[in-house]
Amino acid sequence: MTSKNRKILVTSALPYANGPIHLGHLLEYIQTDIWVRFQKMRGHEAYYVCADDAHGTPIMLKAQQLGISPEEMINNVREEHMADFAGFNIEFDNYHSTHSDENRVFAEEIYNRLHAKGHIKTRTIQQLFDPEKEMFLPDRFVKGTCPKCKSEDQNGDNCDNCGETYSPTDLINPVSVVSGATPVLKDSEHYFFDLPAFEEMLKEWTRSGSLQEEMANKLGEWFESGLQQWDISRDAPYFGFEIPNAPGKFFYVWLDAPIGYMGSFKNLCDKRGINFDEFWEKDSTAELYHFIGKDIIYFHSLFWPAMLSGADYRQPTSVYAHGFVTVNGRKMSKSKGTFIKGRTYLDHLNPEFLRYYFAAKLTSRIDDLDLNLEDFAQRVNSDLVGKVVNIASRCASFISKKFDGMLSTNIDDQELADEVMNAGDSIAALYESREFGRAMREIMALADKVNEYIAVKEPWQLIKEEGKQQEVQDICSLGINLFRILMIYLKPVLPELAAKTAGFLNDELIWEGHKALLVDHKVNKFKALLQRVEMDKVNAMVDDSKDNLVATQDVAEPVTGPLADDPIADEIGFEDFAKVDLRVAKIVVAEHVEKADKLLRIEVDLGGETRQIFAGIKSAYQPEDLVGKLTVVVANLAPRKMRFGMSEGMIIAAGPGGKDIFILNPDDGAQPGQRVM
Ligand code: 2FM
Ligand code: ZN
Repeated sequence: MTSKNRKILVTSALPYANGPIHLGHLLEYIQTDIWVRFQKMRGHEAYYVCADDAHGTPIMLKAQQLGISPEEMINNVREEHMADFAGFNIEFDNYHSTHSDENRVFAEEIYNRLHAKGHIKTRTIQQLFDPEKEMFLPDRFVKGTCPKCKSEDQNGDNCDNCGETYSPTDLINPVSVVSGATPVLKDSEHYFFDLPAFEEMLKEWTRSGSLQEEMANKLGEWFESGLQQWDISRDAPYFGFEIPNAPGKFFYVWLDAPIGYMGSFKNLCDKRGINFDEFWEKDSTAELYHFIGKDIIYFHSLFWPAMLSGADYRQPTSVYAHGFVTVNGRKMSKSKGTFIKGRTYLDHLNPEFLRYYFAAKLTSRIDDLDLNLEDFAQRVNSDLVGKVVNIASRCASFISKKFDGMLSTNIDDQELADEVMNAGDSIAALYESREFGRAMREIMALADKVNEYIAVKEPWQLIKEEGKQQEVQDICSLGINLFRILMIYLKPVLPELAAKTAGFLNDELIWEGHKALLVDHKVNKFKALLQRVEMDKVNAMVDDSKDNLVATQDVAEPVTGPLADDPIADEIGFEDFAKVDLRVAKIVVAEHVEKADKLLRIEVDLGGETRQIFAGIKSAYQPEDLVGKLTVVVANLAPRKMRFGMSEGMIIAAGPGGKDIFILNPDDGAQPGQRVM
């Protein structure tokens, strides 16, 4: 490994400013954070910047739905995102917003340069327009019947039922998701970025050798099928930046999103006096890496390098894509409680557990990563608690009680010490190449050896024997020393545990420290470093993530693609079904809940017994319209503590979400408390 000081700028994809950070997002931030922490530990000048991706139609509509300005909404969401990231020890050097002055300046500059060079084309296109809302509709905001299989209520760009992709104008009976109106076709002049002009440049960039093999192959396929001009404009109303000299036309959110990397870095440079140009100028020797998910490769490996090149900036050194997170082998699902928000995780579990588990399973490839919750608990307990921390717990009490916290000057087993110390280079190479799983395995194999050494030496027996005191001090000192080196290797993954360890050892755990042992050195009193993962807490997290059926579906934020709910749940037997106690209930009270976006507080009469239920049906019902209605309730659902109080049952509802949620409404002949069968 070269010891030359490198200048490295690293980014993760910018999360949209209209939804919470979930475990799917966190894979990327944790991966990037580990890599950057590693680079910094090795003495390189590395910066990690990110921002909220604040523009676009979904964000505009969501703010409208909440009755606040987009600016207010994106500020609130940014605060939440930053708190969530901090909770997982993601250490950005800067976290900005794409709705910033810096970003506007760069977006305009890049556009103007591309325009001046003839890389911007205009032409008139026809698009679906919502005549009630007076706005053009993005594909995702149109629904209708699939032109191929005739299945109803399909998205504007592809059919969930038969998989067909099409344009929203092909839908039969299209409807605007925003207003319910029938959209009409309307002409509008759009601005296009001339991507095909950059084919040679992109091929050259692809050949640079630093791209993942799968990505280079993907690019090859795209070159083969032919590059297309890219539509970069959207008509008002739109939340974004207006295009220079084009009144009423705005940059499409994906134009200024990657530019947000520059905007955030510029903001950092201004705060810290860093030379921005050194990182972005055409012949920069600094390294630039973007960590992204596999769904946005097209934007980062075609549009982005081409835009940079056309505007006389440097290209990324590489773009590193990762796969999606699945939970227990399936797509994350709201109904199963496996669509887990970062905040919900933090309410129950230690962030370092997730950092370790992800690290242990990450490779440099684009494969999906399964978070199996049983395996998660088992792996964290066995590796971190049972192997690594165990070394310290076995040795520390002897050192502090019998030897006044002093580590010995003798090295009891030089060969073992050398083996652990010498592993530094190969572990570093694995971190560098993002083979974190292999790095973790190598570290755990060393931990196994150290534990074996202690088990064979049995200091707890020797301490009882006359004249063996020095030996005990030597063994335990080596144990603590090797624990220290393992914690140096794990520091990029487990910064919190490393900080506690540093406090115990009176040592900073710098990377170079792995080459030497602490001798004749005083350590502090040992306190428990890590608690085991308890399955109860994991289960409580899953329970907390379960929504009342459609509760978190949202008009402004269609959940599609890899994160969508599974359409049909697993099959259950009759016995399981018979366990569900469905009862007719009469709604006696219904009211808004302060600070809840989706929930109503409802009291139902179950034939003499009154229950409180929080139901995610606010987007579809006014509380006053519900009072007096009969409905169906799961009466034997275990009560669940929610942020706003206890929920003692579940109201059965159906529908795609938003305004289209329908509670079951039995005939008036039914009586509260009657069993539904
Ligand atoms: O896919 C997304 O979530 C986008 N908000 C990512 C943007 S990354 C960058 F280009 F800004
Ligand atoms: Zn279809």
